[in-house]
Amino acid sequence: MAKTYYITTPIYYANDHLHIGHSYTSVAADTMARFKRLTGWDVRFLTGTDEHGQKVENKAKAAGLTPQAYVDAIVRNIQALWKRMDIEYDDFIRTTEQRHERVVQQVYERLLAQGDIYKSEYEGLYCTPCESFWTETQAKGGVCPDCGRPVQPAREESYFLRLSKYQDWLIDYIERNPAFIQPQSRVNEMLSFLRAGLNDLCVSRTSFSWGIPLPFDPKHVAYVWIDALTNYISALGYGSEDDGLYQKYWPADVHLVGKEIVRFHTIYWPIMLKMLDLPLPRQVFGHGWLIIGGEKIGSSRGNMVDPTKLCDRYGSDAIRYFLLRELPFGADGNFTNASLLTRINADLANDLGNLVSRTVAMIERYFNGNIPAPEQDGELERTLEEHLLALPAEVERYMNGLQFSGALSAIWRVIGECNKYIDLTAPWILAKSEEGRGKLASVLFHLAEAARFIATLIGPYMPRTPARVLGQLGIAEPELMSWESLGAIHKETAGHSVKKGDALFPRIDIEKELASLDQPQTAAQSESAPETERSDVITIDYFDKIKLITAGVLAAERVPKSDKLLKLTLDAGDGERTVLSGIAKYYTPEQMVGKTVILLANLEPRKMRGIISEGMILAASDDAGGLRLLTLDGDIKEGSSVG
Ligand code: MSP
Repeated sequence: MAKTYYITTPIYYANDHLHIGHSYTSVAADTMARFKRLTGWDVRFLTGTDEHGQKVENKAKAAGLTPQAYVDAIVRNIQALWKRMDIEYDDFIRTTEQRHERVVQQVYERLLAQGDIYKSEYEGLYCTPCESFWTETQAKGGVCPDCGRPVQPAREESYFLRLSKYQDWLIDYIERNPAFIQPQSRVNEMLSFLRAGLNDLCVSRTSFSWGIPLPFDPKHVAYVWIDALTNYISALGYGSEDDGLYQKYWPADVHLVGKEIVRFHTIYWPIMLKMLDLPLPRQVFGHGWLIIGGEKIGSSRGNMVDPTKLCDRYGSDAIRYFLLRELPFGADGNFTNASLLTRINADLANDLGNLVSRTVAMIERYFNGNIPAPEQDGELERTLEEHLLALPAEVERYMNGLQFSGALSAIWRVIGECNKYIDLTAPWILAKSEEGRGKLASVLFHLAEAARFIATLIGPYMPRTPARVLGQLGIAEPELMSWESLGAIHKETAGHSVKKGDALFPRIDIEKELASLDQPQTAAQSESAPETERSDVITIDYFDKIKLITAGVLAAERVPKSDKLLKLTLDAGDGERTVLSGIAKYYTPEQMVGKTVILLANLEPRKMRGIISEGMILAASDDAGGLRLLTLDGDIKEGSSVG
């Protein structure tokens, strides 16, 4: 039987529209769930909505609706957004559902009966938007440490959860289970919070009524966080007669949460579970935030980016790709329309889109549309095969650490390699002669096979794209789209009839598009506007695509009938290359031999005077026509990267 994998998102507050930051957590969870399904796990993916609390009560009142009608409308929107973004959950739990409320009430009853909940009086500083009580030391300057808004003194008869009793147990647990809180950087934060001393937590409210009434004292409603955290087990039927899902899937393998709610998941939740004598989730992963203009996205800041609008404009796969690729999962990262569009053009339209369209077009042109069988494999083919076969395990390693951007970079590295392989083998030249046919067949087979690998691997991140790629390759058999099929180079790929389709990701005119996107401007962004208006600005990612390396000049000679060109043979670290360079007026062949130069290594090869030049060496030139080579300060081995 397949091993089980239970993954959850936080349940989203049903008090506002969701923005791109929220969809980040869900896209990550969905991708992980899809990846685990692809690799043969029995997956349960849970999401849902957190619907109780004073904020909902207030907003519903302002809108002239009952709280239930208010949250129903919000939940419809949230579910439509997830559908739009291909978030394929197995269950959607709402905290207003009976199956959930019943479990929360059971939990309170049991904890009261065993003395882990007790009645007392609460005095403290209350933050209404966060529904949290704070001590004077926590609410420094009279503001909530979470949201920065003013807190008010408040006092009420309340029920308390005896957190203090479990403080030492939890410190010990966290220290002994290094994988429990991830990334590692969040562990110390939680440990110092715990070591500062845990107060018992006030877990009932009387100041509003939109919540789950405590069964033993119904004028109190449950504290929203106790209510909300319980969703992870109530959705599995915990505590009911029909608890098969609970038996099968608990403990969760990972709760994905934003960094601001790690504390609730790694302090309150484990203690609740300990009190209930239940196993703890294996991992809580606190991811970073999407930031706009230096600030967290939020309705109060007026910088909400609507994910539906972006999906409608560029397709959900492009948005999913961007979210997962742009920021390393644990860290914060900036969202700008410019970075989104640049990635769409560079990674999706150019790298992936061109690879597929060039491959399909060449198979149509040179083999009547039928993927040829390989006939004459050489070193390049063997290397490409090796890299393709190693890729699934590398992607899996990254995914096991929830390193989505690492996994995507690895896949895109191979996409880059395939594009380079086209340039190196120059199929259009092979096609010119009969002797080139066998090699041409090998090249196009390997490109089609690589596209099959890549299409299958990107499925979890971009669920719509694989069918479009495989459709163009004419591949429809499930056994050529499975994870297992990536264990070998499949000769069966040959013989399929390709069919050119629409561009996978049409190129975007970035300037025009930026002008028509009404990106919310924050103060910080408008200040930096003059700089970003320069038309020649590039991003670091763009620069990263330019492969500069050191190379040693092994031999040099004049090119016959040219007074400008020298033909150089370079040691580029991974082999020899021929480069033609227009420096013959400034350097003699003898002066060149033995020099270390800087080589633009991924320039498209070009034929000049019957010789194929595989790159360009860098030199500075002045207005008077002077030219000087770029050289190095000290020795470094050939093939070292420059940048
Ligand atoms: N209702 C609670 C969670 C209860 S779970 C038992 C809650 N809801 S939320 O709607 O405010 O946030 C849900 C998730 O969205 C959190 O993981 C949060 O970090 C994430 N994001 C909201 N804005 C975000 C960004 N700007 N960037 C990345 N994720 C952010 O908290």
